[in-house]
Amino acid sequence: MKTQPTEMLEQTLNRDQETEERAEHYADLQTARTLVTQIAAVQRLLRIYRPNNAAVSQAGDSLMETLQVLFRDMAAVEIRYWRDCIFVNGDRLRCDVSNFTAYKSLLAQTGRLEIEKLEIDSGIGREEIIDFLKLLDALDSDHIKGEDVADRIVSEGFKHTAVVPSAQSKNLEDLGIKALTSQERAKRAFYAALGSAKEALITQTSQGVVSLRKAKRAVHAAADALLEDEVSVLALAAIKDHDEYTFSHSVNVCIFSLAIGQRLGLHRNWLGRLGIAALFHDIGKTSIPTGVLNKIGVLDVDEWKAIRQHTLMGVKSLCKMPKTDEHMMHSMIVAFQHHINLDLSGYPDVPAETSLDLFSRIVRIADTFDAMTTERPYRNKVYSPHEAIRYLVSQAGIKFDPVLVKAFAAAMGIYPIGTVLRLNSGEIGIVVRRSELSGDADRAMIRVIVDRDGNQTAQEVFIDLGEVDPDTGDFIYQIDETLSCQDLGVNPRDYLIS
Ligand SMILES: [Fe+2]
Ligand SMILES: [Fe+2]
Repeated sequence: MKTQPTEMLEQTLNRDQETEERAEHYADLQTARTLVTQIAAVQRLLRIYRPNNAAVSQAGDSLMETLQVLFRDMAAVEIRYWRDCIFVNGDRLRCDVSNFTAYKSLLAQTGRLEIEKLEIDSGIGREEIIDFLKLLDALDSDHIKGEDVADRIVSEGFKHTAVVPSAQSKNLEDLGIKALTSQERAKRAFYAALGSAKEALITQTSQGVVSLRKAKRAVHAAADALLEDEVSVLALAAIKDHDEYTFSHSVNVCIFSLAIGQRLGLHRNWLGRLGIAALFHDIGKTSIPTGVLNKIGVLDVDEWKAIRQHTLMGVKSLCKMPKTDEHMMHSMIVAFQHHINLDLSGYPDVPAETSLDLFSRIVRIADTFDAMTTERPYRNKVYSPHEAIRYLVSQAGIKFDPVLVKAFAAAMGIYPIGTVLRLNSGEIGIVVRRSELSGDADRAMIRVIVDRDGNQTAQEVFIDLGEVDPDTGDFIYQIDETLSCQDLGVNPRDYLIS
């Protein structure tokens, strides 16, 4: 058949577009290759000259020019090392004669340092990148490895660079663990964050710096785990009896806040900052007598005043941290604002023109959700996660930022993990993950607690609410109602941790 002129034109245009895209991709790869060569060049010069030497500065300028090209499309550049290969922003770089030395020297160094990823964000400047590469070299000479490398980068105050220790670093090998599943990594990150929260909240004064470093590392690990396996991390946050309330509440608020932050596409460094602020949001509560915090019944005027003071006390506690960096400044804002609603109701009282910080608005949502769904001595009703989401949605635009509520509801699902449901078929089950068969937000995977004959079951029976009747095309299962774990006498822990 003869090709019509319009079709020919379309084909030519498509071809041109394809060629253009391929050319762009090729150009990106070339830039990435240049980047690797330039990083190695700066490091080589730093081994001979001081950082302020003209040759080092010149090489640093060239490196910055290349980074700027990559930052046009992305807020951060990610260099990953995996099995003798280098990937820049997900693209594997070929090793050939022109870049062989640079390629191998970078791989050898990251291998010795036991790191698998370098991240450089667009806020970086020439001095910082030079100092960063110098530090990597110094740590290499001192045989520092893995997590300690990541620690030093944070403690030395690098704001626009980060490293991720390799999954098979010494510590894991010592434990006889070669590779962890994403679920195991999620669990580790979660409990590490819990431990750090406890430590940081207890040792607020002289040991503050050490605890803060640990907290930062744990938050980054939690953010990474969440990126990798959101469902597993959110499932851990649905279990409410990890430890004393303030610690597990702080970690849960951190996890939920990070889930919102990730949905917003915040860069890793900002996620770290958000996570820290969320972890410390209630730090002021450590100065309130526990008798008041856990009082059953109505609080008198003075007790209520003391509770409200925890926002200001939080700022004071954070001020006492020996190092006041940007993380801490942001944490202070969140500690102060996290009980103020979008319409500026709540506490403390603030002037009518106050604009709430983004992190405070995020933590406000995460905090409300966790408080509503957790059993406390003074609270009569524990809301199911589903009811709590519905409450947040009903108050979107009034108490809560509507865009952030939407992001949170998207992360949690309409029936979040831990929600107990009764199905039209008679079974009662707890939501353990999302449906594997349907992308609908109200379809989940449940683990059966009580079978259709009313018998409690200890066996692992799952029902996917996304299952469709092949004859009618309709969903087989419908949700009759949501139930509370409290009324059923069920502990989600028994079903959510495997
Ligand atoms: Fe609070
Ligand atoms: Fe709180």
